[in-house]
Amino acid sequence: MAEYTDISFPPGFLWGCATSSHQVEGNCTNNDWWAWEREGGHIREGGVSGLACDHYNRFDEDFALSQELGHNAHRISIEWSRIEPQEGRWDMAEVDHYRRVLESMHRHGLTPFVTLHHFTNPLWFRDRGGWLNPQAPDLIARYAGFMARELGDAVPFWLTINEPMVTVTAGYLLGMFPPCVRDMAQALLVGKHLLLAHGRMYQAIKEATSHRPLVGPVLNMSDIQPQDPDSEGDRQAAQTVDTLLNEYFLVGLSLGVIPPPAGGGEEVAGLKGAWDFIGLNYYSRELISQQMLELISDGTLAPAGFVRHTPPGAELSLMGWEVYPVGFYKLIKRLSAYRVPIYVTENGTSVVDDRQRISYILRHLRQVHRAIGEGVDVRAYLHWSLTDNFEWAEGWQQWFGLVALEPGTLNRKPRPAAYVFRDIARANAITAEQFRAYLG
Ligand code: GAL
Repeated sequence: MAEYTDISFPPGFLWGCATSSHQVEGNCTNNDWWAWEREGGHIREGGVSGLACDHYNRFDEDFALSQELGHNAHRISIEWSRIEPQEGRWDMAEVDHYRRVLESMHRHGLTPFVTLHHFTNPLWFRDRGGWLNPQAPDLIARYAGFMARELGDAVPFWLTINEPMVTVTAGYLLGMFPPCVRDMAQALLVGKHLLLAHGRMYQAIKEATSHRPLVGPVLNMSDIQPQDPDSEGDRQAAQTVDTLLNEYFLVGLSLGVIPPPAGGGEEVAGLKGAWDFIGLNYYSRELISQQMLELISDGTLAPAGFVRHTPPGAELSLMGWEVYPVGFYKLIKRLSAYRVPIYVTENGTSVVDDRQRISYILRHLRQVHRAIGEGVDVRAYLHWSLTDNFEWAEGWQQWFGLVALEPGTLNRKPRPAAYVFRDIARANAITAEQFRAYLG
């Protein structure tokens, strides 16, 4: 039986949940996802985001609940398509809405983390070629600067683009997210524009506000390993995927270049060191085979043909993702080489049995703490997510929430994990007793 000890987190550690506009607000009618959902055939069980969690109207209630649940931080995203419904036209009523959202967060003792782009694009941006348009970085930087000018006094942490490499892979390589492309050349061009966009957004925010916010990217990382460690082909494939998915932004931002394969290592003014912190999203390990990489690279993978490899007997979430806590530790340690503070901006699991969620949280926090104990500067843990929500192509068939939504009324019903997390957040610590009670 494992030996557990009490562990505590550094003073001032931030605890809370992460969300995104399209997944929780409801009625984000003016973006590419909304349009895509309505085409039909893309979302599991024909789901649509619709009213989502009605967070647009219930934000105050949600933040009161977060406070009751012991949180002292919270991550939202601003819906670009609300703020700039047509190119160059700002909707000041929506700016006021987000000001009220931020005021409510502050009133409830929640330090705001604000993402500017979380997967969804305004329709006009899509119609101008979306992320393939060479002007995309400037278009989004203009919006970032505008937001920082309008709301800069209320936002200590700006997050530029959520999981850029998911936009690259799911949107342009695997055809799972709009615009549903499967083309390596386009994917790499999008990767280049996203890195440039981050750099320009960083500069635009810094120039627009005197409130000295911290600005960083949100990087999704998985522990990428060869499916068959004895196969040279799989080992090389895993290396290739790791370079593209895990290394690309890190190299780009630490050296100020567009690294291969999206670029040729050319320097970009203002890109080097354009991060005050790293936002890390971690969920799982990824096993890569040479065969899968070949199918993806030449665009012959059938739509929805992407199959995640998992070891036989592995513990899986409803998403089919392997529960692999030690990968979290490994990636945090790897990030520590860049000498910028790390904020966990997402980590969580979709399960039916809440005991599994509690166990997931405890095991992952243990790995965060292990890295902190070895001197890594980790400053926050934001759980994905507060409530169940619209899980992209999975629609309403996933359960990531610490809090359930009552069907019909959308009333918030905290799950047992919400209370375990509350006790941890309030104590800024986990006791050996808690570990024993839930991990056995
Ligand atoms: C992340 C994403 C979130 C959420 C989560 C769970 O990749 O940023 O929006 O969907 O995964 O799948």
